[in-house]
Amino acid sequence: MGTENKVIRCKAAVAWEPGKPLSVEEVEVAPPKDHEVRIKIAASGVCHTDWTYLYDYEKGVKTRPFPLILGHEAAGVVESVGPGVTAVQPGDKVIPLFLPQCGECEFCLSPKTNLCFKNWSKTQHGVLADGTSRITCKGQQVYQFIGVSTFCEYTVVPEYNVAKIHRDAPLDKVCLLGCGVATGYGAALNVAKVERGSVCAVFGLGAIGLAAVMGCKAAGASRIIGVDINAEKHEIAKKFGVSEFVNPNDHSKPIQEVLVEMTSGGVDYSFECVGNITLMRAVFESCRVGWGTCVIVGWNETGSISLAPIDVLMGRTLKGTYFGGWKSVCSLPKLVEDYMSGRILLDEFVTHTLTLEETNHAFELMTNGKRFRTVIKM
Ligand code: APR
Ligand code: ZN
Ligand code: ZN
Repeated sequence: MGTENKVIRCKAAVAWEPGKPLSVEEVEVAPPKDHEVRIKIAASGVCHTDWTYLYDYEKGVKTRPFPLILGHEAAGVVESVGPGVTAVQPGDKVIPLFLPQCGECEFCLSPKTNLCFKNWSKTQHGVLADGTSRITCKGQQVYQFIGVSTFCEYTVVPEYNVAKIHRDAPLDKVCLLGCGVATGYGAALNVAKVERGSVCAVFGLGAIGLAAVMGCKAAGASRIIGVDINAEKHEIAKKFGVSEFVNPNDHSKPIQEVLVEMTSGGVDYSFECVGNITLMRAVFESCRVGWGTCVIVGWNETGSISLAPIDVLMGRTLKGTYFGGWKSVCSLPKLVEDYMSGRILLDEFVTHTLTLEETNHAFELMTNGKRFRTVIKM
């Protein structure tokens, strides 16, 4: 029997309150409303941001309402569509998107940005356009993390939050393009716009940082310096294109001074892929007077960065990016094809594959230096 127009009972890893482990529960996922799509999730990457909103919400992020279903880096198959949906149909392989592309707003119409604030304040508060979530558990509404919620066998998102991808795409790999890999890769290509021969430094060699490294390499950078306080990151980072590695803990001087010395004046492009506001200043000061550009990629919503005005006056640029500058709906299919034709590495990011029941273990692995991405297979 088909599930269309019916409530689907399925499993989800529910976060009942901040600071507490997730609990796998039976939830009810309502049918999609107007211009919405219900997706059967096949695989979901576990991003540092999921962990942050559960365990580190006082440091650098604003809290989101609970109970909450985390997960925002996934791929799946359309189960059914609500009235008015034309972009996808049941059976299509898709990536759900936390950043929409409505195609109509002033941001979507501008080539200068990838942002789209369609329903932004609602999705940031865990609900869809009508002010409610499509998921309930034990009679209670469960909020959808940044409008998505992929630690769940099914979810519902608006049609402008869905990218239709190649029918042969392996969902347990391309899910990583739903957040981390696309973000880091685009930070180098779309935001910094690294040129051939550039000297780059990437701070923080998690999935986001390694993807930035991969973007610098694709752009033809001549030196890519990886900076991480975890020495174990060095070996794997080489695979992605890191040519030199620096561990700030091995130096008594501030890390920016080390980099300025190593590069006789500073790097052309530096990337902050940690989300640490103290580090952001160091990353900025690592770039060259005159033209150095620093791109903030790591997420932090509450702190502030202090800079010496002279550092900006002397020609350095500070930029930031959300989702790597990709206009989400139209860019994701191309990124999937770039992976399928070997231009983007994804398999190398996946260090662990777990079940939904093991999602808490995925969070424990976050502190393991050998982990890059854990993929939860439904
Ligand atoms: N200097 C250099 N590297 C650091 C520092 C520091 N002060 N602090 C942490 N790191 C390194 C960690 O050792 C780790 O290798 O940064 C890396 C972060 O990697 P992950 O935890 O795997 O995080 P990732 O998923 O890549 O996300 C990075 O982007 O979207 C945001 O919320 C996310 O802010 C986080 C950032
Ligand atoms: Zn993420
Ligand atoms: Zn828009």
